[in-house]
Amino acid sequence: MATIETYFPTGIVTGNAFCDREKEREYLKKRLDQNVHVVLMSPRRYGKSSLIAQFTLEQDTPFTAVDLLPATSGRYVKNAIVDGVTELLDAIMPRFKKSKQMLMRHFAKLNPVIELSAFGQKLKLRPEEKTHEETIMKLLMSLDMVAKEMNLHVIFVIDEFQQIAMLEESHSLEASIRHAVERSKNVFYIFSGSNRTLLEEMFKNKTRPLYHLCDEMKLDRIASEYYVPFINAASLQTWKSPLPSDSIDMILYLTDRHPYYVNRLCRMLWDSHSLPNSDTVENIWLKYVENQKNDWVSEMLSQLSINQRAVLAGLAKISEKELMGKHFANKLEISPSSIQRTLNALLKKDWIYKDTEGYYHVLNPVVKTILARDKHFD
Ligand SMILES: Nc1ncnc2c1ncn2[C@@H]1O[C@H](COP(=O)(O)OP(=O)(O)O)[C@@H](O)[C@H]1O
Ligand SMILES: [Mg+2]
Repeated sequence: MATIETYFPTGIVTGNAFCDREKEREYLKKRLDQNVHVVLMSPRRYGKSSLIAQFTLEQDTPFTAVDLLPATSGRYVKNAIVDGVTELLDAIMPRFKKSKQMLMRHFAKLNPVIELSAFGQKLKLRPEEKTHEETIMKLLMSLDMVAKEMNLHVIFVIDEFQQIAMLEESHSLEASIRHAVERSKNVFYIFSGSNRTLLEEMFKNKTRPLYHLCDEMKLDRIASEYYVPFINAASLQTWKSPLPSDSIDMILYLTDRHPYYVNRLCRMLWDSHSLPNSDTVENIWLKYVENQKNDWVSEMLSQLSINQRAVLAGLAKISEKELMGKHFANKLEISPSSIQRTLNALLKKDWIYKDTEGYYHVLNPVVKTILARDKHFD
């Protein structure tokens, strides 16, 4: 019975393990057709990488994804882009001699060599030591020209793109990327990242090189109307029956539909031999939370100010409407204006999120459960 790995595998999910995101995939498809580049933002583990993976799978278009999370220098960014471009060229490398010469000509300044190995031909680029910015620009522009001559569309994904903003050379790196991306006709770019503050600053500030380069796309949680049939399909496979509806409600309630935690909880539930009832769901979740408690949560919480912790715990226990009320402000001994300021700070750091109706909630369901059950706060 391979259902855990089919429906709730670890890591990036696609295919049977992928739920919903219909509108998002449609949106990306339109942008791909128009070649209007996209910046995709959401908190960590909402499903950016999975969405991109599923989308590119469906498009049957050559693509590459580079991850800049570990980037510490312009050199790192350049090397990552060299790898991405090489991967794409390898994927579209023409079989005919004439077009191969064309490809080599476009990349002449980047010292291309084609190596033969047991696995066939492999392209290697060894750019001369010019500035990293210049190399990046050349690489991306040459890639576009090759794709254009071959009449192909390719997708280039740069993940955790906001890391560039933290580098010393950020301004010149952003400028070189803008130069290439702006002119790109056949390479479709998706910039994604989890730090919305930095990303918005990069793309929305008039003084920054990337200003207004892309359409913006924000990824939310997955709605219950999609999760219920998705989870039931997995249940039918495993237990020949849908889950009791209060069990599903409990899963979605405890995890607050945070995609990573829905997956995590279902993985544990699908280990048991019988259909879990809602008590089982809750017990397994609480056990999981208890395990996480000593891990990263207390360390994270210790980084918050007293006010921030008080407001966060307040949100975990009661609804926001009450939190903003006078009674609650008196109890916390924090003024309503200060509560608002604290909420903004927590929002910026992804401790909380705003739902579609404009209400705030604790972002991480493990943190929420821990704070909600803390008896010292009442
Ligand atoms: N569309 C989806 N359907 C089902 N599970 C998902 C979906 N998107 C994300 N998940 C779950 O969330 C986890 C984190 O997703 P990931 O794509 O790595 O997020 P991000 O790139 O935003 O950090 C995945 O491992 C998976 O368990
Ligand atoms: Mg990711």
